[in-house]
Amino acid sequence: MDVFRIEGPVRLSGTITVNGSKNASLPIMAAAVLAPGKSRLKGAPRLSDITVFAQLLEDIGCKVSTESDGTVSIDSTSIGKPVGEYDIVRKMRAGICILGPLLARVGRAQVSMPGGCAIGYRPVDIHLRGLRELGAQIRLENGYIVADAMRGLCGNEIFLGGPFGSTVLGTANVMMAATLAKGTTVIESAACEPEITDLANCLNTMGAKITGIGSPRLVIEGVKQLKPFDYQVIPDRIEGGTFMVAAAITKGCLHIRNCRLGDLMAVAALLRNIGVTVETENSGCIVACSGPVKPTDITTQPYPGFPTDLQAQFMALLALAEGNSIIIEKIFTDRFMHVAELARMAADLRKEGSAVIVSGVKKLIAAPVMASDLRASAALVLAGLAAEGTTVVNRVYHIDRGYEKIEERLNPVGAKIIRESD
Ligand code: EPU
Repeated sequence: MDVFRIEGPVRLSGTITVNGSKNASLPIMAAAVLAPGKSRLKGAPRLSDITVFAQLLEDIGCKVSTESDGTVSIDSTSIGKPVGEYDIVRKMRAGICILGPLLARVGRAQVSMPGGCAIGYRPVDIHLRGLRELGAQIRLENGYIVADAMRGLCGNEIFLGGPFGSTVLGTANVMMAATLAKGTTVIESAACEPEITDLANCLNTMGAKITGIGSPRLVIEGVKQLKPFDYQVIPDRIEGGTFMVAAAITKGCLHIRNCRLGDLMAVAALLRNIGVTVETENSGCIVACSGPVKPTDITTQPYPGFPTDLQAQFMALLALAEGNSIIIEKIFTDRFMHVAELARMAADLRKEGSAVIVSGVKKLIAAPVMASDLRASAALVLAGLAAEGTTVVNRVYHIDRGYEKIEERLNPVGAKIIRESD
């Protein structure tokens, strides 16, 4: 297992480029199943999650190849086995979004019920409720979701809200299934995340008839068939946000290319409020910070609110603020694995239920720390850039799931990160 040795503190400066979005690429890859033939996804990041999803597609009968620029070609002419196996889905929860496309294309599917997750309990009840409302019969058997819609799916009016608001992959699943259903589907309380907008735009290039894109009310007029896509994925807003924090926490200045500020409005507003300069630049933005940031309160929310996927990174930043901040996690209420690790680096943090009180300290001190999930490990890398001494981040494979060779991209702008085999 690889580890990172991060020498700090450093001041980042220069230009860094954001890759294509992981969380938009995964459901779009699933959408390839809806239309027999060869689809191409351009700009997908070269990440282990993308490779695992490609394995899932190959396992059901698709032919998948990846070009050197990251373009993923998926030939879904034949689907031999509409089964999302446990061994693949357990590695990556996004595997669940193969369920809707398989049901719509083949009329039946079995997908392993996703198991435990480092960021807390993540049920899929709303996915199943939505698919049932489209007419699928669904039961649980030996840890698998067994779904049947041999007489076809039928459009319906579906409320997809849950106790924590909308669901991103649940919306993706039901929206994809509805594209080939008979009649019109209305999804109320649909997720509005840019990744869902991107998926809907891709589906429309395939011949789907989706309106209300980007709003909580999606209207999907079912069509008889779809055609394969040739589609460019959007930039990864979470990677963009992580680089914004990297500039701020190192009191540096980064020109972040391929970063759509429009997808990061809540994040940019918050950064400006705490004293960080964020300016639009043609192909991205410039983020600069000259001193310690001011404290603030953050509550994570569905889009366009502050994203849960940047909560950990902002905790690292606010650990060095001039005063006390409160961070409330409203999406994944147990997503706090980074708290104990940041505390090992001298952050002053107190967890109260689903909130953390962050008392700003003057400096963070390097320590050996353990990455536990993707975003938590990004927070540890950011803390390592600002901390005094050499931080050793163990279990770097977590960060490799969501950030392509992050050390090779941060080092040219001033980071000192060495990857070593444990
Ligand atoms: N929820 C339910 N029932 C469901 C589905 C969700 O109660 O059937 C709850 C969840 O437990 C959570 C909330 O609803 O409390 C929102 O979860 P959502 O379904 O939106 O999450 P997801 O679709 O499983 C995606 C991203 C996550 C990101 C969340 C929230 C992908 C592959 N994953 O997960 O990304 O945190 O949306 O924005 O798109 C990451 O990239 O690190 C990551 C975890």
